[in-house]
Amino acid sequence: METLQELEQITAMPRIGDDAPKFQAITTQGDINFPDDYAGKWVILFSHPADFTPVCTSEFMTFANLESKFNKANCELVGLSIDGLYSHIAWLRTIKEKIEFNGMKDIEVKFPLIEDITMEVAKKYGMIQPGESKTQAVRAVFFIDPKGIIRAIIYYPLSLGRNFDEIYRALIAMQTSDAFSVATPADWNPGDDVIISPAGSCGVAEDRMVGKEEDLNCEDWFFCTKKLGKEEVLNTVIKN
Ligand code: BEZ
Repeated sequence: METLQELEQITAMPRIGDDAPKFQAITTQGDINFPDDYAGKWVILFSHPADFTPVCTSEFMTFANLESKFNKANCELVGLSIDGLYSHIAWLRTIKEKIEFNGMKDIEVKFPLIEDITMEVAKKYGMIQPGESKTQAVRAVFFIDPKGIIRAIIYYPLSLGRNFDEIYRALIAMQTSDAFSVATPADWNPGDDVIISPAGSCGVAEDRMVGKEEDLNCEDWFFCTKKLGKEEVLNTVIKN
């Protein structure tokens, strides 16, 4: 039975808009000082339940295969499980040498994988969710922006492999919102219309309703969209 303090530690949950909790850790790529080492970049910090498990293996292969795509969007990947460094190294070596999945093989995981045997980092980030497992991290995905602010969080249960197209879509959508001061509607992808927030003054709203503002399409005062070209989005958020 945990003490109240232990329970509070386990159930602490960082929220959207919080500073990303700081930590220092050993990883498969050397020591890291998080999030300071990533200042000026987006980071996806994600946890998996355990090394040498099949769903996690499929996820690591998929993420490693997509790493350069994320890097081009100024985003670094950092993994974590509550396994030790030597387990991580042996697992990643086995993946490279032996595992074939979805047409991928010989996959080398080059992004850092944090060892967290003490669960210190996992607890800080609310990755241990006792109703799901007391001894393994759930599949958490934290999107942290270049200022070290948590911008989005997705949690999946142990049995459910993540959708990496959605993780990439969410990253590009948030970068687009920041760059163009817009919001993105359901199922948005680059090239689709974006949402303009409702106007602050009646005058502006009336202009919108009669379509005076350039490129704006208003269904009603609270629902205005405008075109934003795919090239414009990609040229802004993707670095070659
Ligand atoms: C997996 O990665 O396959 C897995 C890990 C923990 C529980 C269930 C599945």
